[in-house]
Parts: sequence; C-alpha cells; structure tokens
Amino acid sequence: MLSHSFFALVALAASSFLWVPETQACHNHGGSPAYWLANLRNSTGTTSPFMNAPGVRKIRFSDGAAPVLLSAFEKDELERSGFRYFDVTENDLDEVRAQRAADGDLNLVATFPSGPTHQSEVKAIISTLSIDNLKSDLAVLTAYNNRYYRSSTGAASANDLAAKLKTIASAAPGTGGAITVKTFSNTFTMPSVIARIEGTNPTAPVVIIGAHLDTINQGSPMNGRAPGADDDGSGSVNLIEAFRKMTAAGFKPANPVEYHWYAGEEGGLLGSSAIAKAYASAGTAVRGMLQLDMTGYVKPGTNPVVGFITDYVDASLTAFTKTLINAYLTNIGIAESKCGYACSDHASWTSSGYSSVFPFESTFSNDNPSIHGDGDTVNVNGFDWDHSLQFTKLAVAFLMELSLPGSATPSSSSSSTVVTTSTSSTRPSSTTTTARPTSTTSSSSRRSTTTTTSSNACPRWWPNCPWA
Ligand code: BES
Ligand code: ZN
Repeated sequence: MLSHSFFALVALAASSFLWVPETQACHNHGGSPAYWLANLRNSTGTTSPFMNAPGVRKIRFSDGAAPVLLSAFEKDELERSGFRYFDVTENDLDEVRAQRAADGDLNLVATFPSGPTHQSEVKAIISTLSIDNLKSDLAVLTAYNNRYYRSSTGAASANDLAAKLKTIASAAPGTGGAITVKTFSNTFTMPSVIARIEGTNPTAPVVIIGAHLDTINQGSPMNGRAPGADDDGSGSVNLIEAFRKMTAAGFKPANPVEYHWYAGEEGGLLGSSAIAKAYASAGTAVRGMLQLDMTGYVKPGTNPVVGFITDYVDASLTAFTKTLINAYLTNIGIAESKCGYACSDHASWTSSGYSSVFPFESTFSNDNPSIHGDGDTVNVNGFDWDHSLQFTKLAVAFLMELSLPGSATPSSSSSSTVVTTSTSSTRPSSTTTTARPTSTTSSSSRRSTTTTTSSNACPRWWPNCPWA
C-alpha cells in the first residue's frame, strides 16, 4: 500500500505544474494556493480530478493564469481557505474580454468628468438618506441564519429583497414603467438581484452600483451562522437606501442606472461573473461600475477614510469618484490600498474590460477583523453607521453624476489601453464626452491585442452614437 509520504511527494511535484504564483497575498491565509492544494491532496491522498468528474470546478488564482481543476470537496475547502480566486467553471471572463476585444468593443476609452456638475440635484437626494433605514434594512438581512449562495436562506434573502424592491418601486411617483426589478438566476440556489431605472436614452451606457448579498461562515459555510453585517450587508443596504430615495424623488436619468446585488461572491465572484458575461454577450455598454463591499467599520483609534482600491480598477473612474468625496462628503479622508486579485465583484467588470471603482471602508490593513464568521454583526467595536451612510451618499452621487443629461459617454477599455485619438472636428465638443479613437492598441500583462476601428464606425452597442 502506498504511504502518505509518497502522496506528499506526488502532490508537491504536481504543485510545481500548477500555474499559481507562490507569492499571492491573501487576507486570512499565509502561503500560496499551490502549496495549500498540495498539502490538501497529501492529507486526503488524492490527485487532480479529471475534467469531467462530477462537481469539478475550474479555478483561476491569478491574472491570466490557466485555471486549476478542483474536485467538489477541494472547492468546498477553498471557500474556507481565505484565498482569492475566480471560479471560471461557467463564466471565464478572460475569454469574455478577449471576445470583446476581437469584436472591437474595447476600442473606446472613457473619460470622466473632471468633477461634479449636478450638485443641486445630488444634494437634494443625499440629504434625504436615512441611517434608520440602513439599520432596519440590515436587521432584515442579518436575521437569515446565513446568506450563503448554496443555502436555502441565501436564496430566500435574494427573493425577499427582490419583493421588497418591487414594493419600493411601486410606491415611486411619476416613474411609469421606468423601474424594473429582476432576479438573475444562477447555476446555484441563490439568484442575484437587479433593479433598473430606465434612462431617457435606454441604449446609452448603463451606470452600475453593486454589492454582494451573499455571506459565508468559513468554519461551516452551508449551515453556519453568517450574519454578514459588514461583509457585505453594509454595501447591500447602502444600495437599497440609494434605490429607495432615488425612486422616491422620481429620478429620471438620461443613461439607465442599475443596482446589482450579487450572489456567490464568496464562492469566487460567481454572480457578478455571470452578469458581466451576459452584458458583454449582449453588447451592453457600461459607463462605469462602483462596488460597495464593506462600508460599516472604522478601526477604533483611527480616522475615518474612504480607502480607494488601486488594483484591478479603472484609474480614471477612481479619480472621478474621488472628486465626489470632496463635493458631497464631510469629515472623511481619502486613502489608497491594493486588494489583490479577485477580491470583490468590481474585478468581474474589470476582467470583462469594463471600468470599475472600489471605495472601501478603510485602508486594507485597518479593515473589519470579524468577517466570514458568526461575529460579523453590528455589535462589533468600530461598527459605524455614519461611516456607512457616507458610502450611500457616494453611491447616489456616482449614479447621478454619470447618468444625468450631459453625462452620456461610451464604455471604456481597460486602463492599460493606449489610444490615439482623432482630431476630427466632427467629434462632440462636451468635456464629459469621450473622444472617439481612430486607432486603438491594447496591451496588458495577460494578453496583447491590437485592433483598429474604421474612422466612421459607431460601436454596434450604441445605436444613437453621435458619430453615426
Ligand atoms: N469583502 C471581502 C473582500 C475584502 C476583505 C476586501 C477584506 C478587503 C478587505 C470579500 O467578500 C471576500 O471575502 N472576498 C474573498 C475573495 C473571493 C473571491 C472568495 C476574499 O477576500 O477572500
Ligand atoms: Zn467576504
């Protein structure tokens, strides 16, 4: 009979063939995914599963890496490990981005306003935002035993949220059929939820704010208690209150705006990956996406900041979002941190070649230490409702500033794209409007693509393109 030490050798040898970097930093875990997996296989006496084995998952651990096959058991263990990864089994966004590049859909670079231009409209709505509503909405979310994406209570939390949003929408004045609330089905029990306020130009690029509704107890994902007050009940209720007050005000944007509550973030960005891929496949243009994931904690003894994540985001969209802090928030600083590969749902949009921004509750090192277990409640020392309200304001300002008339511009390629712009006088003159490229060269660490557009063509997803 073969001994465990034999399997240890095999597993460690096999690990050197896994395309996983040895240096990946992650939140709760030392070491690399390759080392972790080799040890797991050593302890279970198993090797890599076959592609067609039941329940096998394809996991990407770093940008551009080949996916690694994990058995169903290993995927369960991975969810508990604290590593960061995309589960690409159903939706591989590296392929999505490559397809968008091949279709010429990455050939426009977004520019964003140099600062806010709708201050009176924005201030009128953000003055109505209510901490009491954040509290009562979060009490509903934390009452589920957990909101794990494969559990019945996770599914119930999403379906109940959709019903609540429909009630909010039906009470909104003067909106006619302009508000829709949908669930977006997944390959697991919990759907994502999408609320949309139609734009007067329904085909203009959509402006999105997102949060993840699902939670995890890393000790016991399926049945363990996971209230997820901060991760990410906080971002989820920020979106609910933003939707409630924008619809109550009869807000009518030029660009469509959407609120996304994702399922399966804790299982490898599953819900946001499915939606980003669906939008890319439909040729849907996205003006920009703002992710709120953890907005309710200020480490005791530190000053409150909005911590802008600087990796896997769009630098121009981040610069624009920072201008909203100065205009609409008070008594708060600005900080910057890296979050690493696949740390939240903004990464699904970035990987698909859309522009995203991720303002976080703190610097990376001062974040809430109680997440991913039964201790993620509003009773944590440092949980701060005023802080979470600030992010609600920021989300409302982001949606309004990018969707009110005068803000319509096409979606972006990645921030690494280099663009040669035309000097044609036929181009729109508004400073908030993107210059139309005649030739675009994209290159990034994961692939190198060169594409050129005809100087007269409008992208296929923008029927009312001003250059038509
Ligand atoms: N909210 C966290 C991400 C986070 C945690 C950002 C701490 C900054 C500080 C998110 O819900 C999460 O847990 N992400 C996973 C990755 C995911 C792909 C499984 C993580 O960070 O381990
Ligand atoms: Zn989390």
